[in-house]
Amino acid sequence: MKTRVGIIGATGYTGVELLRLLLHHPGVEVTALTSQKYAGVPISQVFPSLTKRFQLKCEELAVEQISKKADFIFSAVPHKTAMEKVPLFYRSGKRVVDLSADFRLKDPEVYERWYQKHTAPDLLSESVYGLPELHRDKIRGAKIVGNPGCYPTGALIGLIPLLKKGLISPEGIIVDSKSGVSGAGRDVVLESLFCEVNEGVKAYKIFAHRHTPEIEQELSLLAQKKITVTFVPHLIPMDRGILTTLYVHLIKKMNTEELLNAFQEYYDGEPFVRIFPKGKLPNTKDVRGSNFCDIGAVVGEVDGRAVIVTAIDNLVKGASGEAIQNMNIMLGYPETLGLDVAPLSP
Ligand SMILES: NC(=O)c1ccc[n+]([C@@H]2O[C@H](COP(=O)([O-])OP(=O)(O)OC[C@H]3O[C@@H](n4cnc5c(N)ncnc54)[C@H](OP(=O)(O)O)[C@@H]3O)[C@@H](O)[C@H]2O)c1
Repeated sequence: MKTRVGIIGATGYTGVELLRLLLHHPGVEVTALTSQKYAGVPISQVFPSLTKRFQLKCEELAVEQISKKADFIFSAVPHKTAMEKVPLFYRSGKRVVDLSADFRLKDPEVYERWYQKHTAPDLLSESVYGLPELHRDKIRGAKIVGNPGCYPTGALIGLIPLLKKGLISPEGIIVDSKSGVSGAGRDVVLESLFCEVNEGVKAYKIFAHRHTPEIEQELSLLAQKKITVTFVPHLIPMDRGILTTLYVHLIKKMNTEELLNAFQEYYDGEPFVRIFPKGKLPNTKDVRGSNFCDIGAVVGEVDGRAVIVTAIDNLVKGASGEAIQNMNIMLGYPETLGLDVAPLSP
C-alpha cells in the first residue's frame, strides 16, 4: 500500500519541487496540497507545467482535515508558520519533515536570537537534523525531521569528513556561497525582481545570515567544541543552484590526491555525493534538478591551505530532494527511491 503524503505549502518553490519528484516515487501517493492564496484551485492551474500530470486541488491548511487524508507530512511553509502547525501534525500521530528552520536548531535561545521566540521548544530535542550523511541512524526513528537549510547542506557535506578525520583546523573556516534566486522563495520581494538581480552579483547578510548558527551547531557537535565560521552568502543571477567554496587550514601535510581520497573514503556508498578527481571542480550546472552534491578540492601545497568546492541544487539536495531522502529513510524505503533522476543538461 502506498504512503499517503500531504504537502503543506505546495505552491512555493520547494513545495512544487516536492511534487515534481514525488510524482515519480512508486511508494507514495500525494493526497493533500495546501495553499492560502490558491485554496480551491487545481495545482495545475498554479503551475501549468503539471497540466495532464497532476490535478489535485489546493486546500487551506486545516490540520484536522489534512490529517485525515495523509499519513506523512512535508511542511514547506515559512518558519513561524511551521512552528505553529508541525506540532499539531506531530500530536495527531503524523511523521513530519519540516523544510523550514523551525526544527533545525537544538537550543531555543539560539533560535530566539536568530528568529523569534520558539513556541514549541519541547520538540527541539525530539526533532532530528536531517542531513542523512551525518545523522542517518537518528533520522530512521525520527517523528520530526528538521530538514537542513540549503547553504548548510553544501557547506556541511564539504566539511564533515575533514573535521571528523581531524584533517583541518576548526579555527578560521571560511564558507563562501553563491546562490540562485529561487533560494529566496516565490513570494514577491523587491530584491528578487529580475532587474534587481540580473547582470549583477552581490554579497549579503555577512555575519548575519540565519544559516550561520545551523552550520556552527552541526560542526560544533561534530568536533565536540565550539566552532564559529565566517559565512558569506552571495546572490547570483540564476534560477537554482548553490556553489560553496570552503577555505580551510590543513593540520596534516597532504596533497590534493590525498585530500580527495579522504572524501572518497568517507563518502563511499553515499548515493548522492560525488567526488571529482584532481583537476576537476564542481559546477552548479552539473547537479541541476538532481539530489547530487558534487565535491572538488585543491591543496595549496606550500603552506597547508586547502580549498573545497561543493555544488548542489538548492531546491533538490538543498531542500525537497533531501526531504524525500529523509522520508525514504524514515519509512524504510530504498534511499534513492524517487530521486534517481539524472541532472538536467545543459
Ligand atoms: N527556496 C529554497 O531554496 C529553500 C531551501 C531550503 C529550505 N527552504 C525553506 O522551505 C520553506 C518553503 O520555502 P519556499 O522557498 O518554497 O517558499 P515559498 O516559495 O515562499 O512558498 C511558501 C509556501 O508556504 C505557503 N504559506 C506562506 N505563508 C503561509 C501561512 N501563513 N500559512 C499557510 N501557508 C503559508 C505559501 O502558500 P500561498 O502563498 O500559496 O498561500 C507557499 O505555498 C521555507 O521555510 C524556506 O525557508 C527553502
